[in-house]
Amino acid sequence: MAEQHNRFNDFMRGLTEASSQPVQPLPETVPFDKPAAQLGKELYFAPQLSANGTVSCATCHIIQQGGDDNRPVSIGIHGRKGELNAPTVLNSGFNLAQFWDGRAATLEEQALHPLVTPHEMGNQSVQVVADRLNADSKWRQKFIQTFGEPASPQAIAYAIAEYERTLITPGSRFDRYLLGDHDALTPQERRGWKLFQSYGCIGCHQGINLGGSMFQKAGIYHPLGVRESRWLGRYNVTHREEDRHVFKVPTLRNVAETAPYFHDGSVPTLEKAVTLMIEAQLGKQPRAQVVADITAFLKTLSAPPKDLLHGH
Ligand code: HEC
Ligand code: HEC
Repeated sequence: MAEQHNRFNDFMRGLTEASSQPVQPLPETVPFDKPAAQLGKELYFAPQLSANGTVSCATCHIIQQGGDDNRPVSIGIHGRKGELNAPTVLNSGFNLAQFWDGRAATLEEQALHPLVTPHEMGNQSVQVVADRLNADSKWRQKFIQTFGEPASPQAIAYAIAEYERTLITPGSRFDRYLLGDHDALTPQERRGWKLFQSYGCIGCHQGINLGGSMFQKAGIYHPLGVRESRWLGRYNVTHREEDRHVFKVPTLRNVAETAPYFHDGSVPTLEKAVTLMIEAQLGKQPRAQVVADITAFLKTLSAPPKDLLHGH
């Protein structure tokens, strides 16, 4: 199972290292383990993964709506509110780590957290989830067919992660532009792309995901956001002073579909998020035309998820 994760990472490194550009188009496909991904898809949509059968991964990560839940903070089991904005699961296989603070190194490791988070799926332990699935002969059979053994925490995590790695969104207008179709972007969108580079957004939002490739402080020149965040980000993982308010730089792919913005969901519109980024991360005055052009460019990063499970 770990080998498959490495295979995906090697594939991704091949894409980025072969390129002399700071950003790369998404690939049309990725290597994945099809039987595991198929089971992972069923698990992803299964409310049986939550303690009372009401919440699935898809409750908070809606595949057809940008891979998030369109709320400032997520609402899980028993209507309980979390404190953070749900990031997209789309293209998440390309991130250097998972969660806003990067505390999960892999999608496998990440997938086990929501199962036992009290305000998400609310289980006592991941073993309880595996036992619940094995008590249902249909689920037990599916695991035996796929892995030759009943459900285990490890198999659940692996199957879900394999499904998530297939959730890629190639073919956006921006990717078509990168691949040589100059007219895929309007003049305003091309101006936005130029500004994105010359202003320095690309210093942090780079790689295949225009993000997801590094950790950076939120609020370099000025505090970021409409209120001081209680969330310390990377500091929670490293306990180093310089990591206060440091976050994984979020991907900008499909960002027009993932409002509201920032780790605390405090910013409702893309224009406002771009304005705050120009002030807080780059220390520049946000001119209205620049904000409009960059926002127009960001809207070209959307494409629907490709159904690799059927097209394979
Ligand atoms: C109640 C809502 C909720 C449920 C249910 C939920 N998530 Fe999440 N998910 C979140 C929130 C909020 C975060 C951000 C938490 C953080 O960064 O600490 C997150 C983060 C993630 C990330 C990290 C993405 C990134 O770029 O950092 C992935 C991947 C993910 N969830 C997948 C899943 C899977 C798979 C399931 C089902 C097993 C699931 N989620 C269930 C709300 C939810
Ligand atoms: C120094 C690094 C850095 C630079 C430069 C930077 N960003 Fe960001 N960006 C971040 C970080 C970190 C976050 C997450 C902040 C948070 O959640 O509190 C972020 C968040 C965002 C978001 C919100 C995404 C989401 O899903 O919530 C958008 C949109 C964005 N940046 C666009 C831009 C644009 C446009 C520029 C250039 C004008 C830019 N960024 C420059 C680091 C940077």
